[in-house]
Amino acid sequence: MRCSELREEDLKYPRDRAILVTCGLPYVNGPCHIAHLRTYVPADVFVRFLRKMGREVVFVCGSDTHGTPITVKAEEEGVSPREIVERYHRHFLELFPRLGIVFDNYGSTDDPLNHRRTQQIVQELMRRGYVYPKTLRLPYCPHCDRFLPDRYLRGVCPHCGAEARGDECDQGCGRHLEPGELLEPRCSICGSKPEMRETRHYFFRLTAFEEFLRGFLGELEGTENARNYALQWVERGLRDWNITRNLDWGVRFPGEEGLVLYVWVDAPIGYISSTEEWAQRRGGDWEYFWRGPGYIVHFIGGDIIYHHCIFWPAMLKGSGYSLPYAVVASGMVKVEGRVFSKSRGYVIWVEDDYLKEGLDPDALRYYIVSYTGHTRDLDFSWRTYADKVNHELVATLGNFLYRALLFAKRHYGVIPEGEVEPRVRAVVEEAIEEIGRSLDEYEFKRMVDAVLGVASYGNRYLQQGEPWRRIEAEPEAAEAVVHNALWLVKAIAVLLEPVMPSKAEELWRQLGYGRRDNVPLAEALKPLETGLRLGEPQPLFEKIPEEKVRELSERIARRVREAGG
Ligand code: MF3
Ligand code: ZN
Repeated sequence: MRCSELREEDLKYPRDRAILVTCGLPYVNGPCHIAHLRTYVPADVFVRFLRKMGREVVFVCGSDTHGTPITVKAEEEGVSPREIVERYHRHFLELFPRLGIVFDNYGSTDDPLNHRRTQQIVQELMRRGYVYPKTLRLPYCPHCDRFLPDRYLRGVCPHCGAEARGDECDQGCGRHLEPGELLEPRCSICGSKPEMRETRHYFFRLTAFEEFLRGFLGELEGTENARNYALQWVERGLRDWNITRNLDWGVRFPGEEGLVLYVWVDAPIGYISSTEEWAQRRGGDWEYFWRGPGYIVHFIGGDIIYHHCIFWPAMLKGSGYSLPYAVVASGMVKVEGRVFSKSRGYVIWVEDDYLKEGLDPDALRYYIVSYTGHTRDLDFSWRTYADKVNHELVATLGNFLYRALLFAKRHYGVIPEGEVEPRVRAVVEEAIEEIGRSLDEYEFKRMVDAVLGVASYGNRYLQQGEPWRRIEAEPEAAEAVVHNALWLVKAIAVLLEPVMPSKAEELWRQLGYGRRDNVPLAEALKPLETGLRLGEPQPLFEKIPEEKVRELSERIARRVREAGG
């Protein structure tokens, strides 16, 4: 089977065009949690696999620094929005590499580059007649003496009746809400009933893009949930979109004092400015992606499909930029079986609850990617975590690698001579095929399952080959088995890297190859370097003891109790 060559031209991302991959920008109003990783880890895995397949990829992200998510938090703490933004920007910037999530650029929407790019885009939309003013009557808090945009307002969703925020029904139907739509509004800071006051705002003529969006969504690549939700919304009818807010933290609306742009205008533009910053630092060409033919792939959470599949492509189209090629939207996150919620205590804080406990970053990457399909709900529980680590990582993957390496080290000290058996080779070829297919389908679980499948095969192969029994009477047969087992270990080192980069690095060392990064996928099928001195074998994974599971689960239970849940 010459699968890897045969597949090349069938793949969705042909070699001749570079790919820009972005991750939804985190609001920097608090630390990184498991729901962030639900998007960032698979995106990082995707990027690493594409690179292994010889694709040129630029991977960008950045901090989402504006809007009421930031200002409300700053008011709660009695500090400036800038202080909040700087604190958590640094937190995310430092945390990502500790999890092996490596961006080519991590920018900030408060960077002057982003202010400039946003103003340019808005001015272009105005020049083309896509922005118009309109006077509205909007809620104003007489006690706080200000208008109440977005998260400053709470009330009842006009669509589903759930308790909602000013700009989104965050606990019910998930719809975007326009200023003034919320029923029974009250000030979220002081609880007062607001009065209505007149104020001038600016609207983006989204309705002019209806036909365009139908065509665009019909061709959009990525996961089906993104395309289908967005098409439904277009069918239900679009409305023009208010793109200004009465706030002073944000990107100024050009030509009007006292108004800033709605955060959902300058946030996605952060994708462009982060690419610009990458281009400045690395001598790259940002326009190749944003005004040229490069592929743009957005990884996002399933809750922001509207913004990425409706608002954003219309903004890009209306101002003369390139459009996204794919939107990959991840499913929801649950913690211990309940919908993820910071306020109700169903949350895992990546630094405090995970890294500070001395737990393995690669094991968390593995959990996230292997738990379920990308668009399905991912439940994180400590019980399941321990089961996955103990059974899949320790007993299957780690066991095979350690057994093979330990036996080889003891008996030969080097990689012994041998021929790769056709059936052994076929196992790796099939895994590579499966990885290519699942990459095209954005099914990251199948990729990691394919790698684990090679390890399971390796365990069976060693079990049947019994080199420990044959080493005396049939030394050549034993040597051949060990050669094949080590060849599988090397294949795993290649294939594992996108999911567990630091384990792969460790594996290369144990195999005696020293430091290796970004090894092409095809190397999984290459011969071993026989005679190479093996490194010190060591188990790659540690079992999670039962007490630890209890302790960590209890911590969540306590947090939920304290939150009054
Ligand atoms: N900060 C937003 C959120 O957490 C995501 C912004 S994505 C971008 O929901 F496209 F606007 F950048
Ligand atoms: Zn108030």
